[in-house]
Amino acid sequence: MALISLLLFWAAFAFAQQAITPQSNTWNSNFSLSRSQIARAGFNGTTANNVNVAVCFERTNWATGSVHDDPFYRVPENASGMPAGSVLKVEQYTNTSAFTMPPNTALSRILFQSETLNGPTVPASAFVLWPWMPRRDPRTGKYAAVGWGHGTSGVFGENAPSHIRNLWYQYSAPYILALQGYVVVAPDYAGLGVDRYANGTEIRHAYLSNPSHANDLFRAVEAAQKAWRDDLSKYFVLMGHSQGGGAAWGAAQRQAKRPVAGFLGTIAGSPVTDLVAQENVTQAANLPFYIGYGLEQTLPGFNVSEFLTAKGVRHLDLFREVGGGQSVALQIDSQDGLFQPEWWLTPYMQAFVNLTRNGGLPIEGPMLVLQGTADPAVPNQVTDAAVKKTCAAYPGSQIEYAIFEGATHVPVLYASQRIWLDWIADRFAGRETAAPCTRSFYSPARKLASYQTELELYLELATQPYEVA
Ligand SMILES: *[C@@H]1O[C@H](CO)[C@@H](O)[C@H](O)[C@H]1NC(C)=O
Ligand SMILES: *[C@@H]1O[C@H](CO)[C@@H](O)[C@H](O)[C@H]1NC(C)=O
Ligand SMILES: *[C@@H]1O[C@H](CO)[C@@H](O)[C@H](O)[C@H]1NC(C)=O
Ligand SMILES: *[C@@H]1O[C@H](CO)[C@@H](O)[C@H](O)[C@H]1NC(C)=O
Ligand SMILES: *[C@@H]1O[C@H](CO)[C@@H](O)[C@H](O)[C@H]1NC(C)=O
Ligand SMILES: *[C@@H]1O[C@H](CO)[C@@H](O)[C@H](O)[C@H]1NC(C)=O
Ligand SMILES: *[C@@H]1O[C@H](CO)[C@@H](O)[C@H](O)[C@H]1NC(C)=O
Ligand SMILES: *[C@@H]1O[C@H](CO)[C@@H](O)[C@H](O)[C@H]1NC(C)=O
Repeated sequence: MALISLLLFWAAFAFAQQAITPQSNTWNSNFSLSRSQIARAGFNGTTANNVNVAVCFERTNWATGSVHDDPFYRVPENASGMPAGSVLKVEQYTNTSAFTMPPNTALSRILFQSETLNGPTVPASAFVLWPWMPRRDPRTGKYAAVGWGHGTSGVFGENAPSHIRNLWYQYSAPYILALQGYVVVAPDYAGLGVDRYANGTEIRHAYLSNPSHANDLFRAVEAAQKAWRDDLSKYFVLMGHSQGGGAAWGAAQRQAKRPVAGFLGTIAGSPVTDLVAQENVTQAANLPFYIGYGLEQTLPGFNVSEFLTAKGVRHLDLFREVGGGQSVALQIDSQDGLFQPEWWLTPYMQAFVNLTRNGGLPIEGPMLVLQGTADPAVPNQVTDAAVKKTCAAYPGSQIEYAIFEGATHVPVLYASQRIWLDWIADRFAGRETAAPCTRSFYSPARKLASYQTELELYLELATQPYEVA
C-alpha cells in the first residue's frame, strides 16, 4: 500500500517536472563592446572578450539595474540648499528579491547631503541594512548602529554598493554586523550611485580622499538617525576596510577637530594611510586611473595625462563609457604603457596626499586598526609607519593596533572577526578601552599554511528552487 502511494506520488512529481537550467545561462546581461569602442581603445580580441565578460558579470550583479535608470538615485531639485547631514530621500522598503542578502535581513536606501573634500555640500546615497532583531544601545534603549565604509568598488556611478546584489562586502563585514544585531548604515561614497547634482552637473568620486569619505560616513549616519529618529540610538560606531579603512581613520582625525556627539569609536581595517608610500611598494595599476579621474574635479588645473599616457587615457575613456568597476579594471589595467613612470611621485599627487593623509595627526579614538602581515594591497609596513608616526607625535592616541600573521587584504576581516565584534560590543556596553597605543600580534591556532588564504567564493542569486535545496 505504502509502495503504491509512493509510486503515485513520484508519478505526479515527474509529470510536473520542468527542465532546469545551469546558473551560467541565467546571466541577465548581454553587453558587448562595439567595433568603434574596441578600435578606439586599441584592444585585441582577447582583451575585448575579457572586458565583455567582466562587464556582463558586473551588470548581472546590479540588483536594481543601472543607477541611471533607477529614479531613486535622482537628486531632488530642492537639495542644493540643504545643509550637510540632511535627508534628501528615503526608500523605506527596498525590494530585496534581487539582492543576495542573508534571510531575515531587510534593506532601506537613502539619499543624504554630504560634503566634499573642499567643503561644499554634495548629495550621496547609502544603504541601511536592518537586522531581524536589532540590539539596543543600553544608553538610549534604541537600536545600535554601525556606519560601514566599503573598500574599493570602482569610481563611477554604477559602482555603488547600494545597487549591487551582495552590497559589495557581503559576509566580509556588513552581513555579519547585521546578523549580530547592528543596524548597518553604509554610504556609497560621494560620486558613486549619485553622479550628478540636481542641475545635471557631474559629481566625480574623489577616490581615496580619506577626509571626504569620513564626511560620507558621519553624514550618512546623521541622516539615518534623522530618517529613523524613534528607532536609532544617537550613539554609533564606525568601521571600514581598505578605502573604507582610510575613511574610518579619517573619521578619527575628523573627530579630533570636529567632534560629533554619539561617536563611540572607529575600526580601520587594512587602512589607506600614506598613498605615496603605499603605491611606492605595491604599484597597484588601478590607482592612477581611479585617483586621476577624481583629481580632475578636486584639484583645479589637474589633467589626468599627468598620470596616464595617451593609451591610458583612451582606456580610462572606455572604462568610463561602460561604467566598469573592479572586475573590468582587472582586464585592462595590467597592460604595459598605460601610466607615466613614477606618477605617484608627481607634485599633484604629493599635494593630494598632503590633503588626505592619515597618520601623524591627532585622532579622537578609540580606534582599532586591523592589519594582515601578507596584505598585498595595503602593505603592513605602511600601516606600521602610520601607527608609529601617530603614536610618536601623540602618545596619548587611543589606538589599538592588531596585527594578524599571514592574513591578506579582505581576509584579515575573517581572521579578526571575533576581535572586532567584541570591540564593537564593548563600545556600546561602555567598557573601558585599552591603554593608548597598544599593539597585539595574533597567530593562527594551527599551521598557517593549512588555512584558506583568499576569498575564493562569490554569491550568486538563486533563481530556481534546486539551487537552494
Ligand atoms: C540583450 O538584452 C536585451 C535586454 O534583455 C534585449 O532587448 C536584446 O535583444 C539583447 N541583445 C542581444 C544581442 O541578444
Ligand atoms: C592582447 O593584448 C594583451 C594586452 O596588451 C596582451 O597581453 C595579449 O598577449 C594580447 N593577445 C594577443 C592574442 O595578441
Ligand atoms: C524637497 O522636495 C521633495 C520632493 O522632491 C519633498 O518631498 C521635500 O519635502 C522637499 N524638502 C524640502 C525641505 O522642501
Ligand atoms: C550645479 O549645482 C552645484 C551644486 O549646487 C553647483 O556647484 C554647480 O555650480 C551648479 N552648476 C551649474 C551649471 O549651475
Ligand atoms: C519584488 O520584486 C519582485 C521581482 O520583480 C516581484 O515579484 C515582487 O512582487 C516584489 N515584491 C514586492 C513586495 O513588491
Ligand atoms: C620608494 O621606494 C624606494 C625603494 O624602492 C625608496 O628608496 C624611496 O625612499 C621610497 N619613496 C617613498 C616616497 O616612500
Ligand atoms: C589634457 O592633456 C592632454 C595631453 O596634453 C590634452 O590633449 C588635453 O586636451 C588636456 N585636457 C584638458 C581638459 O585640458
Ligand atoms: C604639504 O603641506 C605642508 C604643510 O601643510 C606644506 O608646507 C607643503 O608645501 C605641502 N606640500 C605640497 C607638495 O603641497
